[in-house]
Amino acid sequence: MLKSATRILLALLFAAPALAQTNTTLLVDIDHRPVTSLDGDWHTIVDPYSTGLYTFHQEIRKDGFFMNATPNPAGPPLDYNFAAAATLKVPGDWNTQRPDLFYYEGVVWYQKDFNHTPKPNTRTFLHIGAANYRTFVWVNTVKVCEHEGGFTPFDCDITSALKDGKNFVVLSVDNTRIADGVPTLQTDWWNYGGLTRDVSLVETPTQFIDDYDLHLSRTDHGLIEGYVHVEGAAAGTQVTVAIPDLKATTTATVDGDSRAAISLPVKSLTLWSPDTPRLYKVELSSGTDKLTDEMGFRTIETRGNQILLNGQPIFLRGISVHAEAPFRTGRAYSEKDVDTLLGWAKELGCNFVRLAHYPHDQRMTRAADRLGILVWSEIPDYWALQFDNPAVLAKSKQQLTEMIRRDRDKASIILWSVANETPNNPTRTKYLTTMADLSRQLDPTRLVTAALLVRTEKSPTGTTKIVDDPLGNALDVIGTNEYIGWYEQGLTGPDTTTWDIHYDKPLIMSEWGGGAKAGLHASAGTTPAQFTEEYQAELYKHQIAMLNKIPQLRGTSPWILMDFRSARRLNPGIQDNFNRKGVISDQGQKKQAFFILQKAYKDKTLGKAE
Ligand code: GCU
Repeated sequence: MLKSATRILLALLFAAPALAQTNTTLLVDIDHRPVTSLDGDWHTIVDPYSTGLYTFHQEIRKDGFFMNATPNPAGPPLDYNFAAAATLKVPGDWNTQRPDLFYYEGVVWYQKDFNHTPKPNTRTFLHIGAANYRTFVWVNTVKVCEHEGGFTPFDCDITSALKDGKNFVVLSVDNTRIADGVPTLQTDWWNYGGLTRDVSLVETPTQFIDDYDLHLSRTDHGLIEGYVHVEGAAAGTQVTVAIPDLKATTTATVDGDSRAAISLPVKSLTLWSPDTPRLYKVELSSGTDKLTDEMGFRTIETRGNQILLNGQPIFLRGISVHAEAPFRTGRAYSEKDVDTLLGWAKELGCNFVRLAHYPHDQRMTRAADRLGILVWSEIPDYWALQFDNPAVLAKSKQQLTEMIRRDRDKASIILWSVANETPNNPTRTKYLTTMADLSRQLDPTRLVTAALLVRTEKSPTGTTKIVDDPLGNALDVIGTNEYIGWYEQGLTGPDTTTWDIHYDKPLIMSEWGGGAKAGLHASAGTTPAQFTEEYQAELYKHQIAMLNKIPQLRGTSPWILMDFRSARRLNPGIQDNFNRKGVISDQGQKKQAFFILQKAYKDKTLGKAE
C-alpha cells in the first residue's frame, strides 16, 4: 500500500496540476440517474492549520493540494500519507464519528481511489450531496471545483481530469464558522463538518437535461406548464415530456438559451395533497438523455389571509425539524433517519413540517412527497448575517438558487423561506427583499416566507405582540417566532397576550414552545419548574389557547420535533449541549407535550383554515 501512497504523494508533489474550472453546476433529479457511489470509507487527514491550503507564510497554495514537504533522506517528504491515514465514513459528519473530532472546527482532507473507463460523448461529474462548509476538490491532482455552503449539493465536471483506469480524488472540507458566511458565527445548532451527504460519480451524455420546472397552472388544472433546459443543446433541439399514467406527452424545441417551454394538457389528473399524495412518473428526454422523475401536481396560493391548496383553504398543522439523526445524533442523511423523523411527524397528526434552518437531505422532501406532508424549506439566512456585505448576499443567492433548483420538482414544498429571526433594520430589509424577489423570479409557483421576530408592548392587562416588521411587505406568508411562557412572561404569559398583526396575509406561528429534559418530572401538586415535562406540557396548553385567538393564523410549526445538539446549550445535567425543546428526546422518548400537541392536531382544536 505504501508504494501506491508514495505514488499518490509523488503525483501530488511533483505534478504541475492545471487549474481546471472552479465553478460547479447542479444536476437535478440526481436520485433518478444511474450513479457510481463513492460512499463508504475515505482516508482522512485532520489539518487544523490548513497546511494543505496555505504556505508557512499563509499564502494560498495556488495550484492545489501540496504536501507540506519536510526533508526525508529516505525519499520524498511524507508529511501526509493518505494510505496510512485513518478513515471516516461518507456520508457522515466527522463530529459524531470520532470523539477527538466532536468539537473540531477546521479542515479535514478526504482521499479516495476509484476506477473509471471513459466513454465517448459523455461527461462525468463528481456529485457531492452536501459538504459543510467550504470545499476544494482535486481529481488526479487537477483542481476541479470549489463550493461554499454546507447544505446544498454541487457537481464538479471532472471529465477532463479523468484517466482510463485508476483515479483518485482529494478534497478538503473546512467547517470553520466565518463572519461573512451563510450562516454566520452564531447558530443554535451543531456545526457538523464534513461530507455529510452522499458522494457519487454521475455520467451524462455530452448534451443532457440539467434543469426543468413542471407545474400545474394555477388557472387551469388541466394544464402542466414549465420548461426543460438541455445543457449544451443548440436551438431547435427536441425535448419530449410524457406522463404515461395520464397518456399525456408533448414535444418542444429549445431556444437559443437551450431552454424549451413546455405546455402539456392533461385530463383526470389527481391533484397532489396530504390526503391524496399522488405521484406520477414523468419521462423527460432529449437526444440520448433520458430522465424519469416522480412528481405530484398541485397549486398553492394565498387569497387574502388564507392559504389555498388546490384552491381550497388549508390549515398547516406542523412541527419544526432539524436534520439531527434520531438516536445516533449527528447530521441526518439516511432513509432511516428520514423515515423516523417524518414518521414521528405523521404520528403527531402533522400535514406540514418546517425543515429548519437549511435545506435538508433530498430524501426528506422525496419522503414528504410520498407521505403527503407539506414543507417549508429554508436557506440559513439565520440571525445576524453581514447584511451590508455584497459577497454575503451573493452567497445567500447562490444557496437559494441551489435549494430551488434541487427541489422545485417536489410537490410537498409550498414555501421557500429566505430568513430566520434577522435583526429589523433597513439594510437587512433591503437584502432580504432582494432575496424574496429572487425566490419569485426563480420559482413563481410557490409562496415566499420568513420567520420574523415580533415587537412587544406592555398593555394594562398584559402584553401585546406586534407584527409590523417591514420585511413582511416582501412576503406572501408571514412567519413569526415567539417564546411566550419560556423566555418571557412565565407559564400563564400566553393567557394575557394579544396579537396585533399589521398585515392582511396568512400567518404561520413558525416557532414556539419550551424545553424539557425527558424523564425530568415536577413533584405532584407543585408548580412545575422549567425543564420538567410537566412545565413543557402546560406551556403547550397555554400557547394553543392563545394561538386560537389569532384570526389569521393559518399554520404553526412548534419548536421542535426532537432535541438537537447545540454548542450554545450549556446547562450541565439538563442540556449538555442539547437544545431540549423537542417534544421527543434525541433517544426517541415522547414527552408529555407530544401528546398535548397530538390531541390538538387530531381533534383539530388548534387552528382553522377559514
Ligand atoms: C430561535 C431560533 C432557533 C432556536 C430557538 C431556541 O427561535 O430560530 O434556531 O433553536 O430560538 O431558542 O431554542
